[in-house]
Amino acid sequence: MPLENKRIVYLVGFMGVGKSTVGRCLADHLNCSFFDTDEEVELVSGQQIRQIFEEQGELAFRGLESQALKEVSCQECSVVSTGGGVVGRPDNWQIMNRTGVVVYLYADWATIESRLLDTTQRPLAQNGTDEKLHQLWQTRQPLYQQADKVIITDRLNPQQVVEQILLALHIE
Ligand code: S3P
Repeated sequence: MPLENKRIVYLVGFMGVGKSTVGRCLADHLNCSFFDTDEEVELVSGQQIRQIFEEQGELAFRGLESQALKEVSCQECSVVSTGGGVVGRPDNWQIMNRTGVVVYLYADWATIESRLLDTTQRPLAQNGTDEKLHQLWQTRQPLYQQADKVIITDRLNPQQVVEQILLALHIE
């Protein structure tokens, strides 16, 4: 993967934007490993994200998430799909910027809202009101915009998003 010394493509973006689906597809295309920080947290803790939020609270989850990010950042060539809130901690940015390129998968609020309708595993989407979630989406925009590349995904299927990422990163 001709990304100079950057080994990892990190996908950031709000819940429901399709980071995991796109990430798997991109990793297949690049013939490299795929990691999902949410899955890593669940593996290490032996609990579902929902349970961690319920029993230990969000702060504990954020600690586990940062730890998971740190661990996957040691991998060779890989694609990492991150949880929507990973962008909230400067330390997480340091890790991502040092070891990879960060791609923000953007979707507008209407798209996100429709994709989160049936969610059962995302505590922040389930427990809050629609208005609160919209506010969170807005508040996070400047954080996501710190990414190296932004891909607008609203009218694209996962394969097309992958094509846009490859173009943006100048990967054949
Ligand atoms: C979160 C997003 C979720 C998960 C957790 C918190 C967030 O990941 O990490 O529920 O703060 O936006 P996805 O973005 O993969 O849904």
